[in-house]
Amino acid sequence: MKFKIPDRRRLLIAASLLLSSAAHADDAARAQAAVTDLGTQLRSALMARVKAEGPVAAINFCHDQAPTIAADVAQKHGLRIGRTGLRTRSPGNAPADWQRVVLADFETQAQAGSAPQTLRYSSSEGLPEGIALRYMQGIATEAPCLACHGQTLAEPVALAIKAHYPEDAATGFREGQLRGAFWVEVSSGN
Ligand code: HEC
Repeated sequence: MKFKIPDRRRLLIAASLLLSSAAHADDAARAQAAVTDLGTQLRSALMARVKAEGPVAAINFCHDQAPTIAADVAQKHGLRIGRTGLRTRSPGNAPADWQRVVLADFETQAQAGSAPQTLRYSSSEGLPEGIALRYMQGIATEAPCLACHGQTLAEPVALAIKAHYPEDAATGFREGQLRGAFWVEVSSGN
């Protein structure tokens, strides 16, 4: 016996598949736009501060402002966003379970030769209720990052980091390594 899906039903299935992949593409584009926004804002704020006042002042600034900047970007784009890594400086940036899985995969890809900033993850399947999309994007360690995340830090920098982040684990990186990732969650119906 041949199983036949009625034409109208088949059309509905095709339409809903199309719609859900269009919704995914739209959410992923929103996530990426928010990441670009946050990345640009953090970078320009940090670099301006390092240049004007040096890395120690920039650490204080990062401690006070990085979470606020992320919260502003989240509100502006109507989603949740942040930065994380397998080794973090702030305990507030420690990865959630799903983020740790993606970070481990990014790390494998980076070690196999992919440029960290080109790594992307996006999923809209099998997510907890209320979440339409999860997105992550790799962050590379660049030369200016080494002053605060490198293998050897100037003593005043190390002291300032220790003062704000007694559990800091985000040093020892080399240029070109994966430093961490941006993450985004988009809610459904949003
Ligand atoms: C002046 C010191 C300084 C420099 C330079 C610096 N960072 Fe950081 N970084 C920090 C501080 C402080 C935090 C913790 C911010 C917070 O409290 O959320 C941080 C946090 C992070 C985090 C979030 C995860 C974590 O470890 O808590 C990432 C990712 C990160 N930095 C990447 C970079 C990259 C990439 C660069 C270079 C483009 C860079 N940083 C340059 C001081 C610095």
